[in-house]
Amino acid sequence: MRVGILTGGGDCPGLNAVIRAAVRKGERAYGDELIGFLDAWDGVRERRTMPLSIEAMRGTLPRGGTVLGTRRGSPFDTPEGVEQVKSTLGDLALDGLIVIGGNGSLSIASLLYTEHGLPIVGVPKTIDNDIEGTDVTFGFNTAVQIATDAIDRLHTTAESHDRVLVVEVMGRHTGWIATHAGIAGGAAAVLIPEIPFDLDELCQRLTRRHHRGRYASIIVVAEGAVPKKGTLDIAEQEIDQFGHVRLGGIAARVAHTIGEQTGFETRVVQLGHIQRGGTPTAYDRILATRFGAGAIDAVHEQQWGKMTVLRGEQVVYEDLTVAVGKTRTVDMKLVNDVAEHFFA
Ligand code: F6P
Repeated sequence: MRVGILTGGGDCPGLNAVIRAAVRKGERAYGDELIGFLDAWDGVRERRTMPLSIEAMRGTLPRGGTVLGTRRGSPFDTPEGVEQVKSTLGDLALDGLIVIGGNGSLSIASLLYTEHGLPIVGVPKTIDNDIEGTDVTFGFNTAVQIATDAIDRLHTTAESHDRVLVVEVMGRHTGWIATHAGIAGGAAAVLIPEIPFDLDELCQRLTRRHHRGRYASIIVVAEGAVPKKGTLDIAEQEIDQFGHVRLGGIAARVAHTIGEQTGFETRVVQLGHIQRGGTPTAYDRILATRFGAGAIDAVHEQQWGKMTVLRGEQVVYEDLTVAVGKTRTVDMKLVNDVAEHFFA
């Protein structure tokens, strides 16, 4: 078979491991020819490709980012976009297309399959871990590890200066990274979008904690965390060219208010894209490899309109439609179990 691959949306550690696995299994087990599209859907519309082979993918397993490049953007953005995608697949005689992406790219893939009948298989990726249908996405474990390492470092400087350090992590409208890194890093509190926060209450908790003799605290704030209605004014969020809200900056607001209300010295750390860069953890390399191998199997089984997902210990196929328009939020049981005993 001739199979195309693209990576869409924000980059994520493990993308190269997926591509490598699909190429290795495709070439070795099925005798496939694999073609990579550069810069996501732009490369499909503009026919910008690179040949993918076992040789070409050598050394990429531990490499972050994506050798194919990635963009946000969709073929549905222009009137001729979908026709361009169809003619590229036809002219290059592709039997199937593997789309590795987050909520946005998987929704595009789903529409191209359901409304235009294109032979597409999806692979869910994102550090945010917010895709419905899979227990976990690759990239998430790496982001949590990076955030946890940062929190570990921040403990010692916070303790030396008796400071409150407010650490902002990514995650868009979910608090997966914040919750996991907060638990792993021993944060005093975690603020997540799923539970609007009340800074008065947080300040009282922090004051009680410091009166008990803990003079330093780490607060982890998810970039999408929101205050309880009427408790704190936050600035209008910027929208990027693809209509995505550009998040970031809430930690500064939180730190400022904590400083004002408690008198504790505060500092802010915004981890930003550090969480997305660099080498994937062993866990993410393995999951990404399994997803890549699963995706090329799905192509040969003609499981069009499906994506590879992790369910328990197994990689299985799930309908792409399951992910469309949904956001998988944090497991509240995990938050509640931990919040009572481990946070301030
Ligand atoms: O979806 C992944 C993610 O890293 C989010 O956590 C974050 O809000 C967003 O992408 C940042 O996007 P960009 O790289 O376009 O600034």
